[in-house]
Amino acid sequence: MKIAVSFLKSDNYKKCIEMINQTSGDYLHVDMCDGKYVESKNFTISELVKLLKVSTKPLDIHMMVENPMKYIDELALLNIQTITIHIDCCNKPLEVIEYIKNMGIQAGIAINPDQDVDLLKPFLELVDEVLIMSVVPGKGGQSFIESTLDKIDLINELKAKYHFLTGIDGGIDNQTIELIKDKNIDVVVSGSFITCSDNYDMAINMLRRH
Ligand code: DX5
Ligand code: ZN
Repeated sequence: MKIAVSFLKSDNYKKCIEMINQTSGDYLHVDMCDGKYVESKNFTISELVKLLKVSTKPLDIHMMVENPMKYIDELALLNIQTITIHIDCCNKPLEVIEYIKNMGIQAGIAINPDQDVDLLKPFLELVDEVLIMSVVPGKGGQSFIESTLDKIDLINELKAKYHFLTGIDGGIDNQTIELIKDKNIDVVVSGSFITCSDNYDMAINMLRRH
């Protein structure tokens, strides 16, 4: 199980990323909020690219944006692990996924708590990862939505057939990780539990211990 650390909840992004560099976290999880797909808005693409140069971790980009295509060329120049878009971000999500894949980058597709698993089906031949949202996207520090657990079981049936990775994102701490430990999740995203703690590495190790 890999740990991707989200810095969304931090009030000093640069300092937070430098602290994440010092941990055993596997990826830096980058939440892009455009004020359209989600209400919140965090940075422009040029601010983001500048900020991400601080990271020594591979980047797990989570695009909570309406038009992901316009950011991909600039992001592709960075040390990217995966770029994930939302199923309903735009009219032609399949084209965006193909574009990402043609650049030799792993592509992910995210599914929200209120979205049906069947919506994933057109993408599963192509994507490397399904990111299961366990909170409504847009804000760090929310509570884990427990109905996500049934959805993971359904997605695991598809995983056996299509062989993608699964990630979970939102409300993961040292208690909620217990709920998903037997669910064959490959990438656990955790933000506030780590970045609001006094010792990031200790919090990461607590997640790994489960
Ligand atoms: C939610 C984001 C998450 C979030 C995770 O919209 O996609 O990545 O920042 O943070 P926590 O762990 O605080 O829920
Ligand atoms: Zn995220």
